[in-house]
Amino acid sequence: MKITVIGAGRVGSSVALNCTIRELGDICLLDIVEGLPQGEAMDINHQLAERGIDCTIRGSNNYEDMKESDFVVIVAGVGRKPGMTRMDLLKTNAEIVKGVCNKIKNYAQNSKVIVVTNPLDPLTYLVIKSLGGQKTKIMGMGGMLDLSRFKEHISTLTGMSRESIQAMVISEHGENMLPLVRFSSISGIPLTEFITTQQSEDLINKTKKIAAEVISLKGATVYAPGNAVSTMIECIVKNKRAILPVSALLEGEYGCNDICIGVPCVLGSEGIEKIIELKLDENELKVFNLGVQSVKNAIENLSL
Ligand code: LAC
Repeated sequence: MKITVIGAGRVGSSVALNCTIRELGDICLLDIVEGLPQGEAMDINHQLAERGIDCTIRGSNNYEDMKESDFVVIVAGVGRKPGMTRMDLLKTNAEIVKGVCNKIKNYAQNSKVIVVTNPLDPLTYLVIKSLGGQKTKIMGMGGMLDLSRFKEHISTLTGMSRESIQAMVISEHGENMLPLVRFSSISGIPLTEFITTQQSEDLINKTKKIAAEVISLKGATVYAPGNAVSTMIECIVKNKRAILPVSALLEGEYGCNDICIGVPCVLGSEGIEKIIELKLDENELKVFNLGVQSVKNAIENLSL
């Protein structure tokens, strides 16, 4: 497999490292900054060499090198600064992503594309429209990251092993994300058996706010995003057909059309093989639809 990562900053390098450590394929790490992708690639190759991992990573400033990629991961763009929301990045990052899409059209039109650049959901929509690609092969990574945090908070609150926790987070990768307590469990036992209603609300709020806290402390989130992307790629490469939260183009699902937003998807060798429609209750639907409205407003502002 050939995986091109566009953007060799901290997140892009974390994606590259996670994918090679899992031996998912060879990496082409692209960036416009001379030397950055090359330096990152050398550093990661040294780690892989010690571990005896034969996947290779190559740094490049030449978009042509993405030719014949099976996957393209779009990380290029500016990250939010403390106090900013992801949506604040819309105009700036939309321009950057449009430019990247032109390169993908030229050199990797048949690849599966995973969008990471924020604001994730509207930019995933922009990429699908720009590439005119199959909606099953273009997706956004947002919910997987929210899920990571939700699981961490559940484990901390309940004291239960992280590996026992099944959880789901849907809707906007942003202020209106929807961690689904009712659809989460610990070894199959509903999470609601372990926590109170108040604790459930606290869990949801912590999951929403934790990324901004990490950014205020270290300037960016790095390892969890890199891991989340590589979990999605692994699921596709190994045809695992796991159900993961993915920003997908909805065409009637959840009563929505012509929008990308986080929903449970079956990920397999074809990419998004099925969108799972959960039976949301009134409160869950209210939050989900707040996310839908937020993403729709952003898409309108893109004036595609
Ligand atoms: C985060 C950014 C990547 O949630 O949206 O860490």
